[in-house]
Amino acid sequence: MNILVIIGSRNPEGKTVLAADAFCRGFEEKGVAEKIILVEKKIEGCRQCDISGWGLCRKEGRCVIEDDFTSIVEKIKQVDGVVFATPVYFGDMSESMKCFLDRLRRISRNEQAKIGIAEKPVIGICVAGGGGGGAVSCCYFMERVLMSCGFVVEDMIPCRRQNLEVKQRVLFLTGQWFARYLEQKKG
Ligand SMILES: Cc1cc2nc3c(=O)[nH]c(=O)nc-3n(C[C@H](O)[C@H](O)[C@H](O)COP(=O)(O)O)c2cc1C
Repeated sequence: MNILVIIGSRNPEGKTVLAADAFCRGFEEKGVAEKIILVEKKIEGCRQCDISGWGLCRKEGRCVIEDDFTSIVEKIKQVDGVVFATPVYFGDMSESMKCFLDRLRRISRNEQAKIGIAEKPVIGICVAGGGGGGAVSCCYFMERVLMSCGFVVEDMIPCRRQNLEVKQRVLFLTGQWFARYLEQKKG
C-alpha cells in the first residue's frame, strides 16, 4: 500500500510534520508514504474564471492554472490513501492547504476527473501549536472540504501543542491501522 501525505505547514521540522511523521512511522511498517510540503510547490489560488464563478474545472475537470496542482492531483489518483496534515491557523486550515483543497474540490465535481479521487480513504490531522485552541474546528472545516471532494474521511485527528506527545502515539497507532485497513480493502 502507498499513501501520499500532504502537508500544509511551512516548517519541515515543525509540529505538523512531527505529527505526520508519527503517522508515517506506523504506516511504514507495512506500506510506503510519500510526503509533499505544499509551500515548496507552486500552487496559485483559484481564479474563479467565469462570470458564473466556475471555469474549466466543472466543464473539463481540470484547472486552467499551469502550476504544480495537476501533478499532485495525479499522485493522489495513484495512491491507495491520502493524509492531509495542517497547522491550525485561526481555528482553520493553513492558507496553502485551503488553496490546494479549494481547487481539488472544484475539479472533483467533474465526473471524469473525480475518478481516483472519489471514494479514496483519507485521514486529516490538524495541529494547533499556539494556545492550543481551534484544532477541533479545523478538523470540522477540513472534513467538510474533504467530503465535498468525494473522499471517504476515515478519521480526523485534532492535536494541540500541549498533548502532541500523546497524540504522536495515537497517530503512530492510526498509521498502523490505516495500513492494515487499506490492505484489507485491496483484498
Ligand atoms: C496565522 C496564524 C494563526 C494561528 N492560529 C492558531 C490557533 O487558532 N490556535 C492555535 O493553537 N495556534 C495557532 N497558531 C499557531 C500555529 O498553530 C503553530 O504555529 C503551529 O505549530 C504551526 O505548525 P508548524 O509547527 O507545523 O509550523 C497560529 C499561527 C499562525 C501563523
